[in-house]
Amino acid sequence: MKYTLPELSFQHEALEPHFDKETMMIHHQKHHQGYVDKLNKAIEGTDAEHEDLEDTLRNISKYDTGIRNNGGGHYNHSLFWSILSPNPSTSPSGTLAEEINRVFGSLEAFKDQFMQAALTQFGSGWAWLYVKHNGTLGVSSTANQDNPLMDINPTNQGYPILGVDVWEHAYYLKYQNKRGDYLDAFWSVLDWEEVEKKYKEVIAKVA
Ligand SMILES: [Fe+2]
Repeated sequence: MKYTLPELSFQHEALEPHFDKETMMIHHQKHHQGYVDKLNKAIEGTDAEHEDLEDTLRNISKYDTGIRNNGGGHYNHSLFWSILSPNPSTSPSGTLAEEINRVFGSLEAFKDQFMQAALTQFGSGWAWLYVKHNGTLGVSSTANQDNPLMDINPTNQGYPILGVDVWEHAYYLKYQNKRGDYLDAFWSVLDWEEVEKKYKEVIAKVA
C-alpha cells in the first residue's frame, strides 16, 4: 500500500486532560485509518499512484472527490498529529515569531484571527496558518478535508504549517458542542517548535 497510518510520537493518553485518550484513539486509529484505506483504493489506476501526496493535492482539480476527501484527510491529520505534543513549546520564536508579529501585529492578534476562522467554519473543516506562495503568512479555513495546498480555491492557496481539525469527531466526546472550549485546549498541546520547523522548510521552498 502506498499510504500508511503514521505512528504518533506520543501515547494516545499523553495529551490529557486537554485531548482525551478515547477521542485520540478513535480519531487516529479509526478516522485517520479510514482516510488512508480509502485513499489507497481511490488512487488505483490514476497518476496519483506515482506521485507525492503534496503534488496530488496541488493538482487536486484533476482528480475525483474520493482522492480529494481522503488525500486531504490523510495529509491534514498527519500534519495535525505532528504539531501536537505533551511537552510543547508554547510560543513561536525566531523568524516565525517575527513574521507573525509583522503580519498580524502580535501572537495574541494572530490567535484571535485563527480562532475566529476556526469558530466560524460552518460544519466540518479545518482552520489554517499557511505560507502564501509569495512567502507571507495567512489565516484561512476550509470545508471538509480541503486545505490551502489544493488548487480548487483561487484564493488562500499556499503551504499549511499549522492546522486545527474542527470536525465534531475531533472534540465531541469530551467537549460535546463546545467547539470554543476544544480550541482553547488546543493551544495547550500545540508545539510551536514543530510549526517553526515547518515554516523554515516551506520558506526554503518558496524563496
Ligand atoms: Fe479529524
